[in-house]
Amino acid sequence: MMRLFSRRSLRLNLLLRVMLPLAGVLSLTLWFSAGSASRQADRLNEQQLLASARVIAEQVRFENGRIRAAVPPSALELFASDSHDEVAYRVETVDGRLVVGFLDLPIPSASIRDFKYLFYPAMFRDETMRAIALRQPIVTPEGSTSVLVLVGETLKSRDALEWQLWLRAFVEQAGVVLVAAFLIWIGISRELRPLLALREAVLSRPADHLEPFDSDTVQLELHPLVEAINSHMARLLEVVGRQRRFLDAAAHQLRTPLAVMKTQIAYSLRAKAEEERRDALAAVGEGLDGMSRMTLQLLALARVENIRNLPPREVDMRALVREIVGSAVPRALDQGVALVVDASEPAPVMVRERLLRELVSNLVENAITHAGSGATATISLAPEVDRVVFKVEDDGEGPGEDDLSHLTRRFQRGANAASSGSGLGLSIVAEIADICKGELTLYRPASGKGFGARVVLPGP
Ligand SMILES: Nc1ncnc2c1ncn2[C@@H]1O[C@H](COP(=O)(O)OP(=O)(O)OP(=O)(O)O)[C@@H](O)[C@H]1O
Ligand SMILES: [Mg+2]
Repeated sequence: MMRLFSRRSLRLNLLLRVMLPLAGVLSLTLWFSAGSASRQADRLNEQQLLASARVIAEQVRFENGRIRAAVPPSALELFASDSHDEVAYRVETVDGRLVVGFLDLPIPSASIRDFKYLFYPAMFRDETMRAIALRQPIVTPEGSTSVLVLVGETLKSRDALEWQLWLRAFVEQAGVVLVAAFLIWIGISRELRPLLALREAVLSRPADHLEPFDSDTVQLELHPLVEAINSHMARLLEVVGRQRRFLDAAAHQLRTPLAVMKTQIAYSLRAKAEEERRDALAAVGEGLDGMSRMTLQLLALARVENIRNLPPREVDMRALVREIVGSAVPRALDQGVALVVDASEPAPVMVRERLLRELVSNLVENAITHAGSGATATISLAPEVDRVVFKVEDDGEGPGEDDLSHLTRRFQRGANAASSGSGLGLSIVAEIADICKGELTLYRPASGKGFGARVVLPGP
């Protein structure tokens, strides 16, 4: 049933939905019609049998000391039909003497003493018949008695009549159903027109047209569909807009250092002194470092977007933090920053590991790059009932800003940021926290010095 309706045209499906029950109703009424045709045919047949039995019964007389009967042709003409049915009759006295007719027409098995007449099925010379037994009172000099008049007829004309009655009912009802189907088809086509027009409008839209569709062109019940399409397009518009802005900003961020490097290379080519040339090339090297950091961060951002919709998994954050901090120690030593890990308990969280790695390493990296020589960065993990609080806090110079929230904007760097850096790290962290249904807070530590980032992540 599901298959029958699944991918076909909506119009056809609707028609089937209406027509199948209607066909069910039709067969039911045809079944009733068959019953009523059969009853009607029986009634007519019985009327004929009764009429002919009466004609015969009227001819039964007591004459010359015995009961006699003459069967008039009119009694049998009643049965004249195209079907050439066989007719048999038998008149008999109550004591079983045949007055006239065929002895082999059987008498009903039930006693008709209590009835005036009754109908019964009978076999006559290998033919099935329907027969009537009629009791006719008759007055004789010895008193009143009665005779039994039996008349039987084969069933050809009765069956033909039943078939005709049924056929007529079938033709009438099938006609009604066909007319209904036609009208329903027209009705459905008409009602579907706005929907099909909407489909055309959706299909013919250029890819960059994301304006909402007018829901008033379709019926009330379809408004939610149009609204759903519109809201989907609004979200698309937002994503497209964000990507466009991001691309513009990224291009801008890359253009400036490229121009600077170009100048530096031109300068080094022109420089006569070896030392000048080396300085210029060293500056180009620094510029390249910055650009490769920016490229890595851009790739990280793209990865975050890709993983966005994958389902979270359980990860032990303590092991992961220890590993990342461990591998960052040499760079921290270089920069003169001490790293302290405060994570005594296992800290399970529901996050894609890749995202978590990106989040932790960006915050640790920031402490190493921006806290300044002599600072200490404390990386702590505090598991709570259904969440884990992760903090990276340092006592360095701080970002030199009063408003910390804007540091999570893309390409945003602090007032006294270290020389290299793309300004993407905290925006990646914020995005990951959002994807993981966590919460990021940037703050100035209680000591009033340095910088703190606090991320609350959901536990399993
Ligand atoms: N621990 C910190 N101490 C002081 N300032 C910080 C600290 N962490 C971040 N900042 C400030 O916030 C700014 C934004 O940080 P973010 O990580 O987004 O960019 P970035 O570190 O400059 O570049 P990158 O994308 O390479 O990480 C930094 O430029 C810096 O000014
Ligand atoms: Mg950073």
